[in-house]
Amino acid sequence: MRVTVVGAGYVGATSAVVLAYLGHRVTCVERNAARLDRWLGGEDPLGEPGLAELRGQVAVEFTSEACSIASAEVVIVAVGTPMDDNGRPDLSQLDAATAEIGGLAADGAIVVIRSTVPVGTCDRLQNSTLRRLRVVSNPEFLREGQALQDAFFPDRIVAGGPPEAQRPIEELYGRILEGRDLPGNPRQEGPPPLLWMSARSAELAKYAANGFLATKLSFVNEIANIAHAVGADASAVLGSMALDPRIGRHFLRPGLGWGGSCFPKDTRAFQVIAEGAGYDFVVLRAAIEQNARQLARFAKAIERAVPSRSTVGLLGLAFKAGTSDTRESPAIALARRLIRGGLNVVAYDPGVQQFPDEPRLSVRAALVEACADADAVVIATEWPEFAEMDLTALRLVTRGDLLFDGRNLISPARAALAGFRYHGVAGLGD
Ligand code: UGA
Repeated sequence: MRVTVVGAGYVGATSAVVLAYLGHRVTCVERNAARLDRWLGGEDPLGEPGLAELRGQVAVEFTSEACSIASAEVVIVAVGTPMDDNGRPDLSQLDAATAEIGGLAADGAIVVIRSTVPVGTCDRLQNSTLRRLRVVSNPEFLREGQALQDAFFPDRIVAGGPPEAQRPIEELYGRILEGRDLPGNPRQEGPPPLLWMSARSAELAKYAANGFLATKLSFVNEIANIAHAVGADASAVLGSMALDPRIGRHFLRPGLGWGGSCFPKDTRAFQVIAEGAGYDFVVLRAAIEQNARQLARFAKAIERAVPSRSTVGLLGLAFKAGTSDTRESPAIALARRLIRGGLNVVAYDPGVQQFPDEPRLSVRAALVEACADADAVVIATEWPEFAEMDLTALRLVTRGDLLFDGRNLISPARAALAGFRYHGVAGLGD
């Protein structure tokens, strides 16, 4: 099929490369000149593992020109929908892209909305700028850092729109739906189902999944806190929950709160969607509030333990391990709060070399450099390098003996052996 993807962010670029791998003729339109230049230079500006290599093996054209839309059978919209000041998704990029598509695309072409958009957006576009076209909601469920694996071996493909669009969507995902001739190893047995539904249901399915996962993590963080309060072992409790298939073994790691470009934005938007429908989504509201409290609780414990003007060696800036993405990162929020409170914060992250947005935050190129003369070491991102670090060697360079582990990566016994006073996330008093 002739496919044009609008937007070369991690969803758009991954979709473009994967669809080209499946044999489609793909053009990817990107209007950000700096980002486009890097794609044209053979680089992947997102640093998504394996993406630049796979892109080198397939024929996909990156361009700033929109003219391929005129001959495309399928146009995929994967532009950003960032959060505005009121917690609503800012749809200006989506509206601009779809207005252009509405003017250029051939009658009956399929427009696939991959961006996360409020429920009812596809219906609105179908009845306005995209009236001549067939609008399909097809949310993505990719995780940063594992986008290719998730794209080739999804648990499910969710799509919704006019019934006559179903066959072309099946053709678009071809070998993924057949589980045939794909790079890598499937996570589960058998190919994924295509779940065809209304556009509104598909739009809601995305918010429901992210909202549920975020709520699960907030619940897990509460369990860890309560376990400590009653003298129980959080990892034993969560480990037992993991074996119940109704709960599932994934997404049970307590931390200093969830972040990233998706959960914070999508949970807030989901709340706004519920409010707009006159529904008080009490569980989601609590999950969002718990997330803010989780970070504040961790920050307070550090502030209580170290004298003002102390130096904190912060390990981690990315919102999770395996990515250089710092958007809505709990590590950054923590750094800002500690700096505001008068502490000196020196950070190291294997994926983030600089953070110019916060000039008061020093970023160093090596773990020991960030921790040299630190009064307290704080782990904020779950990088394996931090789980495996030589604590005895670390203690030789730090001034103080406090170790705050916001991801529960280190066993308290190992920390004590190296001479650290250890505080895990579940080990903090209120
Ligand atoms: C998330 C979803 O997992 C994807 O399915 C979805 O497609 C994506 O959002 C999106 O909407 O585009 P992502 O933001 O890449 O993916 O990150 P996750 O791996 O889900 O992690 C989110 C946050 O939860 C991170 O801050 C992470 O550190 C935290 N987390 C995750 C925990 O604290 N504990 C866990 O056990 C798992």
